[in-house]
Amino acid sequence: MQSDEPLCYGPQVMTWAAELAAWSDQQDNLTCTYLTPAHRATAEQIRQWMQEAGFDTVRRDAVGNVIGRYKAQASVAQPELVVTGSHYDTVRNGGRYDGRLGILLPMAVVAQLSRRGERLPYDFEVVAFAEEEGARYGTAFLASSAYIGRYDPAWLDLVDAKGVTLRQAMAEAGLDPAAVGSAAADTKRIKHYFEVHIEQGPVLLDAGLALGVVTSIAGSMRRKLLLKGRAGHAGTTPMHMRRDAACAAAEIALYVEERCSQADTLVGTVGMLEVPTGSVNVIPGACRMSLDIRAADDATRDAAVADVERKIDEICARRNIAIEDTQPAWSVAAAPCSPEHRAMWRAVLAELGQPQFELPSGAGHDAKILEDVAPVSMLFTRCGNGGISHNPLEIITTEDAQLAGRAVLAFLRKLG
Ligand code: GLV
Ligand code: MN
Ligand code: MN
Repeated sequence: MQSDEPLCYGPQVMTWAAELAAWSDQQDNLTCTYLTPAHRATAEQIRQWMQEAGFDTVRRDAVGNVIGRYKAQASVAQPELVVTGSHYDTVRNGGRYDGRLGILLPMAVVAQLSRRGERLPYDFEVVAFAEEEGARYGTAFLASSAYIGRYDPAWLDLVDAKGVTLRQAMAEAGLDPAAVGSAAADTKRIKHYFEVHIEQGPVLLDAGLALGVVTSIAGSMRRKLLLKGRAGHAGTTPMHMRRDAACAAAEIALYVEERCSQADTLVGTVGMLEVPTGSVNVIPGACRMSLDIRAADDATRDAAVADVERKIDEICARRNIAIEDTQPAWSVAAAPCSPEHRAMWRAVLAELGQPQFELPSGAGHDAKILEDVAPVSMLFTRCGNGGISHNPLEIITTEDAQLAGRAVLAFLRKLG
């Protein structure tokens, strides 16, 4: 196939990702949560790079998405819209490629198109989504939901760990909470949405492959609970008289592990577990915990969720522990990727001399939300270091990023 100038994607993406990683909510790790000063600086940097890359228009929308548009060939009268993107927020102590790769790589491709003076037969939009992880407000996909016009105004009253409402955080960031509706794109024009993302797992690495085509995106359910027992003296309260909230949480966590080991693609995680104001010599009177349960198909996930919820009620009733939901339970359905576009990606891989490898995604992605309004597809890149992600050890190689850039350019030409 036509080869592009050597190394115009890989090194560029690695340099940009390293520069963005310097903006963090924390001194000693990469944490970039929605609308913090580091998050705003990241958005501004992306905006500037988009402008330099040769996008025709670059704008920040009402929820903080940064959107670059590369206009269609002038000869196309009513161009359709092809959209790609991913998120620039991160989990706490995260990696620098999760989300950002799917913004920076298409930016590097547009920079190359612009240098060559090449236009596509459709408008091409790269969206840097402001919020996907749910790290600050518990509810995830705030940004892509706004982009497709499905922003729930009730989200504005969500509160972060410091008691700051989303409405306040937006105002502090110079965004107008009353204007969230204006972030909606003209979704009827969207012909296709695709997303490039680091795999965040070991499958491609183990198979010795740089790239893979995603078959479907797992659905997930999240819940945050406060278990309430009774605090008491650790030395004087007999074991049978205790209402230990941490022991209830531990029993729940072990059940989640056992139940979610029972089906392929089913996974369950208690990622947050905390005894507020705990002391070494006090029986835990309360325990905060989170649940995250996912599977490639909704029926498998829903069955596990139902069993876990029954078990939580049973454990807490037996231990005389009260249950409070500290945030509304949240769930999204699994999303299949478009068969037609999967076939196009496979053809691209074949042209690049790569095996036509496909795999499901256990992680959530903005593509999951866009699937409500357009056919979606995803390309995964190999994740090094054993496939670790949501961890600062997350890495990709320059060579894999370069190959992914060539794949994106070939895919864009095929879409035309
Ligand atoms: C997002 O990274 C998720 O899958 O939790
Ligand atoms: Mn993530
Ligand atoms: Mn991600």
